Amino acid sequence: MNPILHKLYIGSMATIVVVAIGYLSYTGYSYYVTPLEERFYHPRHDWFKPSGAYGHGLGIVGTFLILFGVSIYIARKRYGFMEKQLRLKYLLEFHIFLCSLGPVLVLFHTAFKFGGIVSIAFWSMVAVVLSGVIGRVIYIQIPRTIEGRALSLQEVQNMRTNLAQVLQDKYKLEPSTIKLFVSFTTETASAEHKPSLGKLKTVLASHQIHKNDKGEILQLVRRERSLGKRIARLETMKRLFRYWHVAHLPFALIMLVIVVIHIAVTLAFGYKWIF
Ligand code: HEM
Ligand code: HEM
Repeated sequence: MNPILHKLYIGSMATIVVVAIGYLSYTGYSYYVTPLEERFYHPRHDWFKPSGAYGHGLGIVGTFLILFGVSIYIARKRYGFMEKQLRLKYLLEFHIFLCSLGPVLVLFHTAFKFGGIVSIAFWSMVAVVLSGVIGRVIYIQIPRTIEGRALSLQEVQNMRTNLAQVLQDKYKLEPSTIKLFVSFTTETASAEHKPSLGKLKTVLASHQIHKNDKGEILQLVRRERSLGKRIARLETMKRLFRYWHVAHLPFALIMLVIVVIHIAVTLAFGYKWIF
C-alpha cells in the first residue's frame, strides 16, 4: 500500500470511530443522562434500553464486530488464512479498528448501566481495549519485515550503516567531526559526551558542504540514532510483548465466556431482538 493510501486507510477508520461516538452520544444524550430510576418514564425508553430495538441491536452488532476483528486476525496470523492477500500489518490495524468500534457500540448497548455478572464482561472488555493500546505502543517499537514478522537482533544490526565510512568516503569529513557524529548515534556514549543535534548543525554549517548533502547527513545520523536506540531496547521490548499477551488474551477469553452466558440468559428470558 502506498503511504498516501495507507494514511487514507487509517484516517477513514479513525473517522468512523469518532463519528460513531459523536452520533451515538448525540442521539441518545437525553436518555443516557436520565437517572436510572427515572429512565422507565423516558419517552424513548423502549428504544434506547439494552433490550430495546436500538440498544439490543448495538450489543449484537458491536459483539459481531469484535468477534470478526479477533477471528480474522487470529486466522491470518496463526493459521495463514489468505496469507497472500492480507498483510498482517494492515490486518492488525483493521483488528484495532473493529475492536475499538465494537466496544463503543457495546458501551451504548449497556446504556451506561453496568449491573449483574455481565458487568465483568464489560470491564474485561475495557481491560482488553486499554491493554491493546499499550500493546500497540510496544508493537511498533519492534522493527519488522514488511510482512509484519519481528526482526531478530542480528537482522536489525545488519540494517545499520557504517556511518564513519560513509561520512569519510562520500562527504569527505575529517576524523574529529566523524567522531562527533558517530558519538551522537551510539547508545553507549555518556550523556555529557553526547553532542546535541543543534551542535551537529553548527559544526556542519562551518563546513563547505552542499546544502542538500547537509540535509542528507543529518537525516542519516538521525536514522542511525533511532536504530541504535531500538537495538538497545529490542530484547526488553520483545520480552515485554510476550508478557503483554498474557494480559490481552486472557481478558479477551473471560469476556467471550461471560458474553456467551449473557446471550444465553437473555435468550432464556425471551429477548429475541427484532426476530
Ligand atoms: C461484549 C458484549 C456485551 C456486553 C459487555 C454486554 C453488557 C450488558 C450490560 C452491562 C447490560 C445491562 C445489564 C443491566 O441491566 O444492568 C446488558 C443488557 C442486555 N444485553 Fe448485553 N452485552 C453484550 C452483548 C450482548 C449481546 C450480543 C446481546 C444479544 C444477543 C445482548 C443482549 C442484552 C439484553 C437483551 C440486555 C437487557 C437485559 C435485561 O434488561 O434484563 N448483549 N448487556
Ligand atoms: C474488545 C476488544 C479486543 C479484543 C477482544 C482483542 C483480542 C485480541 C486477540 C485475541 C489477539 C490475538 C492474541 C494472540 O495472537 O495471541 C489480539 C492481538 C492484538 N491486539 Fe487486540 N483485542 C481487542 C482490542 C484491541 C485494541 C483496541 C488494540 C489497540 C489499540 C489491540 C491491539 C492488539 C495488538 C497490538 C495485538 C497483537 C498482535 C500480535 O501479537 O501479532 N487490540 N487482540
